[in-house]
Amino acid sequence: MTKILFVCLGNICRSPMAEMILRDMVRRRGLEAEFVIASAATSTEEIGNPVYPPARRMLASHGIDCGGKRAVQLCRADYDRYDWLLGMETANIRRMRAICGGDPEGKIARLLDGTPNPRDIADPWYTGDFQSTWDDLVEGCTALLDRLGS
Ligand code: 4NP
Repeated sequence: MTKILFVCLGNICRSPMAEMILRDMVRRRGLEAEFVIASAATSTEEIGNPVYPPARRMLASHGIDCGGKRAVQLCRADYDRYDWLLGMETANIRRMRAICGGDPEGKIARLLDGTPNPRDIADPWYTGDFQSTWDDLVEGCTALLDRLGS
């Protein structure tokens, strides 16, 4: 069993998209029983809110449903609950380390750090460019499953 928590600032765009994309990939490979996949925010801004409509539409255009996902905040106990806590950008990593009290087990990284081209996931918040976010997330999630040998 591998437990993965995706983290971004608000948990309404990037990290829930990552959660749903990885769940879909895992389902297609018939590996649901081997994974726990969730997402959370570093901030309190959007707690309780559903996935942002353009992010929801991007997922829906690929046949992926967000279900009843609501934004939740990362908490210190999540550090022990998950094997990997994967942030979307460098600013997330700083906040994740602060909330979790550091990273003694080396579980915190950016999603795209595990690719040949380590970088932040494209942030659609000010650009409205959800396609680039989708492309980056698919790249990161594909590399993640490859790295895990799945
Ligand atoms: P997310 O997107 O971190 O990808 O969920 C954002 C959500 C809210 C804000 C920024 C980005 N905000 O500034 O409130």
